[in-house]
Amino acid sequence: MHYTRDLNVLRLGHVLLTVEDTRRTHDFYTGVLGFRLSDWVCIDDNVRLCFLRCNARHHTMAFAPCMPGKIPRLQHVMLEVDSLDDVMRSYHFLRIHKAPIGMGPGRHINCQTVHVYVQTPGGFAVEFGWGHRRLDDATHQPVVYPPGSPVDVWGGDIQSSEFELG
Ligand SMILES: [Fe+2]
Repeated sequence: MHYTRDLNVLRLGHVLLTVEDTRRTHDFYTGVLGFRLSDWVCIDDNVRLCFLRCNARHHTMAFAPCMPGKIPRLQHVMLEVDSLDDVMRSYHFLRIHKAPIGMGPGRHINCQTVHVYVQTPGGFAVEFGWGHRRLDDATHQPVVYPPGSPVDVWGGDIQSSEFELG
């Protein structure tokens, strides 16, 4: 992919979808489609994110529960970039152009991705991410991060009211 700005996108990294029942979704993706559970991250008692992989990448599909009154939707798409510089260039590019930053720069607790999110007109966000963790199937044990776990270990918070996890 060639951008009109200085940015090296390697691949489409993952998507996060909201679903009515994350447990049933987990069971379907692992039991029928052959995905593996990487971890659950419990932001609070209502938002429990499920992260699933189908290769060494920490997650290719992730799921969050729909908030009451909402319908299932695409929450974000992650574009994996080549370097930390690409994430920070993206952050400043978005900031200077007054784009609606959803979250970041920060680092996720589970996949360790350094990220910045921008809310798009389609109602979903695009995440520019680097440092996404790779897992070894032979040794990785699924983790449950307890309620109260931060979305960003650097302490950043959600910056746009449109950026909802569920
Ligand atoms: Fe993501």
